[in-house]
Amino acid sequence: MKKWVHEQLICPQCLEKAVPLDLTVREAVAEDIIAGEMTCPDCGGRFPIQQGIAVLLPEKTRTILDDRGGYNTPAMLSAYLWSHFCDFLGDPKATDAYRVWSKSFQPTDGDALDVGCAVGRISFELAATHHHVIGLDTSIAFIRKAREILSRKRLDFDLIVEGHVTEARGFTFDATRDFDHVDFIVADALALPFRRRAFATVAAINLLEKVPDPLKHLTEINRVLREQTAMFLFSDPFSWDEAVSPPERWLSGNGNPQYSPRGIDTLRRLFSGEYEVFNPPLAICDDGDVSWKIRKTANLWEHITSQYLVGRRE
Ligand SMILES: C[S@@+](CC[C@H](N)C(=O)[O-])C[C@H]1O[C@@H](n2cnc3c(N)ncnc32)[C@H](O)[C@@H]1O
Repeated sequence: MKKWVHEQLICPQCLEKAVPLDLTVREAVAEDIIAGEMTCPDCGGRFPIQQGIAVLLPEKTRTILDDRGGYNTPAMLSAYLWSHFCDFLGDPKATDAYRVWSKSFQPTDGDALDVGCAVGRISFELAATHHHVIGLDTSIAFIRKAREILSRKRLDFDLIVEGHVTEARGFTFDATRDFDHVDFIVADALALPFRRRAFATVAAINLLEKVPDPLKHLTEINRVLREQTAMFLFSDPFSWDEAVSPPERWLSGNGNPQYSPRGIDTLRRLFSGEYEVFNPPLAICDDGDVSWKIRKTANLWEHITSQYLVGRRE
């Protein structure tokens, strides 16, 4: 974890009190802390930094780290690395999804947060226009790879062809790209370890349907997003799954008369200030559908339509 990240953090278990964390550094390479610990002087919570990766998960959700399935498998790593960087890899089947999502980023004096960043593509794009960029995710495998790309300015990985047959893929980022002001941490979208109003820009792409409490996820974004000169990039396919969140928490598609039948319509209403989820409200300045592909194997693809809104506060 880069040293500047510590200044941005508060205890994820004491969000109301916004308690800064005490830092102990055991090993560092220049500005990067390789081993250490952060502790909360209020609740006593301990947040380790191991092999450069800071874990800011509340202790009650720390069991996520033991998950060797889902987003921590080599298969998911291959799938998301292709999905995020297929255009850099020169793949003829590449999509322009991440370029479409990134087109709304504008130069700002502030910092950016990429919630559910996976292997980091949106954070790398935010780096061009923001002072500091933090990507966070609950998958330690994704964060490890994102940090490796960051430090090497290069991606190398094994792309799954089928079964255990893989092909080596890689590319080097343009040397002019400066990534010193980008970092990635393990943290939970439902307990963002940052102060109120800390970020000029927040991106949350394809995450809403993946969290157990979608409304809490949005209220957390409202908490950390600046009140003025701020932007929120939201996108989701709204493919709700009972295995992830109970239907009564879905923001559409569950017959709840409070919400619209289609998720994108509920989100428009929430952006405009309904139920005070976003306070101040967000003015929608762009919207649309993004064709997004996840490549599982050479013959197995997920084709997804992700619906996005760009909201601003002047
Ligand atoms: C569908 S993927 C989308 C990734 C990326 N934003 C993109 O669009 O390519 C969902 C991501 O959210 C992460 N995730 C799931 N639950 C999370 C949570 N509670 N907090 C932070 N990240 C989470 C997963 O590990 C995964 O990387």
